[in-house]
Amino acid sequence: MDSKVPYLDLPAQLRSVRKEIDAAIARTIDNCSFCLGPDTAQFEKDFAKFCEAKECVGFNSGTSALHVALMLLGVGSGDEVITTPMTFVATSWAISYVGAKPVYVDTDDATFNLDPKLIERAITSKTKAIMPVHLYGHPFDIDPILAICKKHRLPLVEDAAQAHGAKYKGKVIGTFGEISGFSFYPGKNLGACGEGGALVTNNAAFAARARSLREHGSTVRYYHDEVGFNYRMEGIQGAVLGVKLKHLDHWTKERKRVAHRYHELLADTPLQLPKEAAYAESAWHLYVVRHPRRDDLKKHLEANGVGCALHYPLPLHLQKCYASLGYKAGDFPVAEKAARECLSLPIFPELTEAQIQRVAAVVKDFFKK
Ligand SMILES: Cc1ncc(COP(=O)(O)O)c(C=O)c1O
Repeated sequence: MDSKVPYLDLPAQLRSVRKEIDAAIARTIDNCSFCLGPDTAQFEKDFAKFCEAKECVGFNSGTSALHVALMLLGVGSGDEVITTPMTFVATSWAISYVGAKPVYVDTDDATFNLDPKLIERAITSKTKAIMPVHLYGHPFDIDPILAICKKHRLPLVEDAAQAHGAKYKGKVIGTFGEISGFSFYPGKNLGACGEGGALVTNNAAFAARARSLREHGSTVRYYHDEVGFNYRMEGIQGAVLGVKLKHLDHWTKERKRVAHRYHELLADTPLQLPKEAAYAESAWHLYVVRHPRRDDLKKHLEANGVGCALHYPLPLHLQKCYASLGYKAGDFPVAEKAARECLSLPIFPELTEAQIQRVAAVVKDFFKK
């Protein structure tokens, strides 16, 4: 056996559905429905059903979907949105794109998600929304955050980019807040053959305006009601995603298999392992372990042919692009420590038992030294 274990093996996933995808792409090319089109419309219906939502609007990326979500909520210049510093930067892009200011709140040490206990003290008269992230596929603790939203009359936006099909107290995430944004970037649990995203909501008026905003602010061709964007989902991506969605439940089960095997095999190592909170059923987008000697462990894994990655090495409040916000090191100690200690191990549906064992063996070997 090849003892190398890739961090991600997209070709393996593609191989398993290649014939279906080829046929779907050929159909799109034959009918030349390259922008939105019937396959995207069908995918929107199917993904809405998957999320137990009334509406799904396809976008060209998750970033665009989150941007439009904040526009729909009327967030704009001078406003503040409470969010997490421990996420991919696109969560904050949405806030910046509408001219608002990201206001960061520290994270919970066990789940890496926004800590509900710390939110209220960050609310000001300028706060217009709360936007946490279901990070690594693990739902954030929704109920206490919804209670804060209700008390302060603030909308909740779920950044669900990493959490397709994750469940909170038995219900699939995506409609707990007013709006949620999903990403179909190729490496996501549900990934396009290119870029893609979706806005999910139970609010028909939001969905209608989102459809207009993604298409140049227009519902009737060449008549533009407001300044919009070219944020349309490509027809080919709608077709690919429609095919892949049918396999998603199975793939999520396979991710769970991998996570549970890691739990068993790594239980007696000094690593802090990711655990599902009592309320959560994770979609296991990532399997993120923690250790103070993270950098050495990373080098050891790589030297032994095991792929790994960092999600994320630098929290957003310390990024150069947000220097003007005035945060400094030490402001969010839990997130900063997580960023120093986190290491993502390979997790994808096609990871074999032999590969899982190889990863565990190389990790254990590190701690023997
Ligand atoms: C948490 C989070 N939010 C937003 C995004 C943005 O999605 P996209 O890359 O599709 O624009 C991503 C993914 O890249 C993400 O991981």
